[in-house]
Amino acid sequence: TTHTIRVEPIGAEIQCREDQTVLDACLREGIWLPHACTHGTCGTCKAQILDGEVDLGDASPYALLESERDEGAALICVAQPRGDVVLEGEVDMDEGVGVHPVRDFRARVDSLDEIAPDVRRLVLALEEPMKFNPGQYVLLDVPGGHQRPYSIASTPADGSKIELHLKRSENGVATDGWVFRDLAAGDEVTLSGPYGRFSFRPLRTQPILLLGSGTGLAPLKSMIRHLDEDGGGGQQVTLYHGVATKDDLYDREYFEELEARADWFTYRPALSRDDWQGRSGRVPALLAEDYPRAGGHVAYICGSPDMVSDTMKALMKARLFPRDIYREDFFDSA
Ligand code: FES
Repeated sequence: TTHTIRVEPIGAEIQCREDQTVLDACLREGIWLPHACTHGTCGTCKAQILDGEVDLGDASPYALLESERDEGAALICVAQPRGDVVLEGEVDMDEGVGVHPVRDFRARVDSLDEIAPDVRRLVLALEEPMKFNPGQYVLLDVPGGHQRPYSIASTPADGSKIELHLKRSENGVATDGWVFRDLAAGDEVTLSGPYGRFSFRPLRTQPILLLGSGTGLAPLKSMIRHLDEDGGGGQQVTLYHGVATKDDLYDREYFEELEARADWFTYRPALSRDDWQGRSGRVPALLAEDYPRAGGHVAYICGSPDMVSDTMKALMKARLFPRDIYREDFFDSA
């Protein structure tokens, strides 16, 4: 059974199956609605159901409060239609960001390499190229019917090969159970994408701070390489990459080489546990030291929830305001 979803205020009408989420149906028709986690926990996709009925699905009680349910709000990444529906959402992305419909893709594992302890680089060769914005992520189908989100580290210039960074997590179905166990070059995988509102804003011309920890580097690397392909875009870009020890600092050669040849790029590794010739400390601490005043920048943060919230605090203390900060509350997909 399919139902008609009308999306206000633009008045677009699309079809959505009963077993499909409203968000999925919209994204596949190229109607971009805000979303981040895609599994009912972050609240980013909250929309108002003006008419009709939806099954609220697995919406977290923290992300969608009882009172909001009573007032007709839904998390459309988990809500499914139970009849024709009219909803009101915050359609289309701001600031010159392209909208690319979500699609399903078949791919082959092009390469799979250990690039740091418990971190692998997975390069997938797609049957059809994917269009996406630097910073967005894909949902990888994992054996057993699961899906896991991973940010794309490569750039849209070659959408037929995408690079992902995966961190092993103990007993994780995607990592321990698959990518770190028996996935190998040549294997077939399926995925969908692109997802997410965390993407490079081409119209913002301020100097850029890119702040990542662990494999939160992936979407930031996509942005940097995208700018590099463009000859730098005229903005100063400073990357902080927070990891525990020197061995965890993957892709260091690329960033050091770029720093040496590009006057617009600065690379600042932040090691929380090592003594080495470079600086030690977590990203928020080094940032606070380097930028007592951060106003006039635009910042992109991607890392563990703690790292993201501490970095937000450091930036706001330095008088950078939320409208100039983009964040990906990523967690290493297990
Ligand atoms: Fe996170 Fe829907 S609750 S995108």
